[in-house]
Amino acid sequence: MRLQGKVALITGAGSGIGRESALLFAQEGAAVVVVDVNVAGGEETVAQVVAQGGRAIFVRADVSQDADCRAMVAAAETEFGGLHVLFNNAGIMHAADDDAVNTEESIWELTMNINLKGVFLGCKYGIPALRRSGGGSIINVASFVALLGAATPQLAYTASKGGVLSMTRELAIIHARENIRANAICPGPLRTELLMKVLNTEEKRKRRLVHIPMGRFGEAVEIARAALFLASDESSFVTGSTFTVDGGITAAYVTPE
Ligand code: NAI
Repeated sequence: MRLQGKVALITGAGSGIGRESALLFAQEGAAVVVVDVNVAGGEETVAQVVAQGGRAIFVRADVSQDADCRAMVAAAETEFGGLHVLFNNAGIMHAADDDAVNTEESIWELTMNINLKGVFLGCKYGIPALRRSGGGSIINVASFVALLGAATPQLAYTASKGGVLSMTRELAIIHARENIRANAICPGPLRTELLMKVLNTEEKRKRRLVHIPMGRFGEAVEIARAALFLASDESSFVTGSTFTVDGGITAAYVTPE
């Protein structure tokens, strides 16, 4: 059991990467705080964890809201006695997120508030709890678009993920002597709700697949496995790193036919 005795809080755990991580972390012995704005999705994740014999609770929280983030961390300490893994995973990719000329200010602000401020608020309340537990691991989900520019415009999303990546490095340095590690995962294109809603035709999906050397979308569980490594003590000397899990997309100049 790689997370025996640990308490993990996962935001956006009502779907996709977050749900797969909740299931995997619980299998490895963690008690999981499942956080989402989507009550039905979050409760379903908890039901699945419990059905496989694990421990989890659901907390409805919007990561862009200060009071919600304070409450989700408090729930981890009240229900499970501490916090060891803070997995800031919740994020959105808005259909109206476009280029600089065509993106409404409201879409920019919504995206930044959830994707970037949400990570800040998770850390604002999560770090004191990690300290009280003697240290732990922060995992922030950025994206391959934090490393590469895309012609498909989604300016607010890309900027938010660049922010997550650089914020993670600074968090890692500031807290390195406190037994708190912070790392970012940069997933490539995944076959989850978030991306499939945007790539909603066969043609759009094919256009994206051309750029992925492995020739397929990633699965949420493939990111969950990377997160498990960063959450566990196996990654005890890993901090401030960019863990790219992308089917080779950021390494490619030309992909195989
Ligand atoms: P998903 O859409 O399946 O799951 C995201 C979850 O976050 C949903 O359950 C949603 O309800 C929740 N959420 C949205 N806004 C929230 C808020 N304000 N507060 C709390 N929860 C909220 O998406 P997926 O693919 O699992 O995404 C997880 C993370 O991975 C996101 O940060 C996303 O940007 C990132 N990512 C995804 C990629 C992909 O291709 N799917 C690629 C690179 C990064």
